[in-house]
Amino acid sequence: MLALLQQLENMMTHKLWTAESLFNELKDVTLGGNVCLYTLEICEKLAPIANKINDLKRQRNAIVLAHSYVAPEIIRCVADFVGDSYELSKLAKQTKADTIIFAAVKFMAETAKLLSPQKDVLIPSSFNGCSLADSITAQDIRQLRKQYPNYTFICYINTSVAVKAECDICVTSSNVYSIVEHVDSDYIYFLPDKLMGQNVVNELKRRGVNKTIKYWEGTCYVHEEYEPEMVDFVRAKNQGIKVVSHPECRSDVVDKTDFVGSTSQMINYVKQSDASSFFLLTECGLTSRLQTEVPEKSFKGTCTMCKYMKANSLDSILAALEAPTQQQYIYLDPQVQQKALKCIDNMFKWVEAVT
Ligand code: 13P
Ligand code: SF4
Repeated sequence: MLALLQQLENMMTHKLWTAESLFNELKDVTLGGNVCLYTLEICEKLAPIANKINDLKRQRNAIVLAHSYVAPEIIRCVADFVGDSYELSKLAKQTKADTIIFAAVKFMAETAKLLSPQKDVLIPSSFNGCSLADSITAQDIRQLRKQYPNYTFICYINTSVAVKAECDICVTSSNVYSIVEHVDSDYIYFLPDKLMGQNVVNELKRRGVNKTIKYWEGTCYVHEEYEPEMVDFVRAKNQGIKVVSHPECRSDVVDKTDFVGSTSQMINYVKQSDASSFFLLTECGLTSRLQTEVPEKSFKGTCTMCKYMKANSLDSILAALEAPTQQQYIYLDPQVQQKALKCIDNMFKWVEAVT
């Protein structure tokens, strides 16, 4: 992680973009299917905005943390680090920057603020939400706690701070299986993702672990769309292709794939694999990212986009640096802050203990 942080601090000096260099970087990147949206004209508009952002970051000692699902021009031109929700949380905790611009979704920015309360954390996105995080409230958990008093409440990071404050341990897609397996409780209430909950039940069975697991009814509206027939269809047409999925997908989809993991674990799998072609069952931003990072391999993706992640843009990042609005600042309710931090800290403790 220290090496990653070093990389993060080093990347804070970005190169100066020209329309041509930007076009060269993005000309083969597809978004939402097979179409490349980047023309030289579009890059003429984007390059000066990217340069202005990189300038302001240096002046303000600010960094941009970006999730792999955001637009390629954010990832390639202004992000200081791109990662999955676990990596981004750790980086938010460790960076020496004064301001964190979190190009992702609100619950990720809230987690950064929990871990670095002395820093300014800003979310550029104009459209805050996540179908999973929005599916459950703190009041729901208080009710469930009465119903299931002997259960350990494990929440996915895709939840609000208020929900985390009511739970025992937070997990992310990169550590959910090992934490649920090893945690010292045989009765688990997992929330809010029903599909991830079903995947956890199946994985624990495969590992020979016997626990009683209940789960909430939330779903990710992007990942729930994939069906097992899509895997059969793509395999039939593409001999030798490896199929990779996210644990937010349905279990009958995950069970047909070669690898399941967080967005960064999917990237590592692809980079380390001997195979040359991959079908990625996740938001299309990951396919775009891999097209630029691993051009020697070929990727089939889906045309499903997360409207919340895609609501970040170079314009909104620039606005957050130049004249942030009250809505862009992350403020946390001091009443829930300490309890939610404990839930996140428990995740870090368990990750250290089991990985
Ligand atoms: P990762 O932690 O795997 O990046 O997942 C976050 C997410 O919201 C996926 O939909
Ligand atoms: Fe939420 Fe799904 Fe978007 Fe991830 S892809 S942020 S789970 S809506």
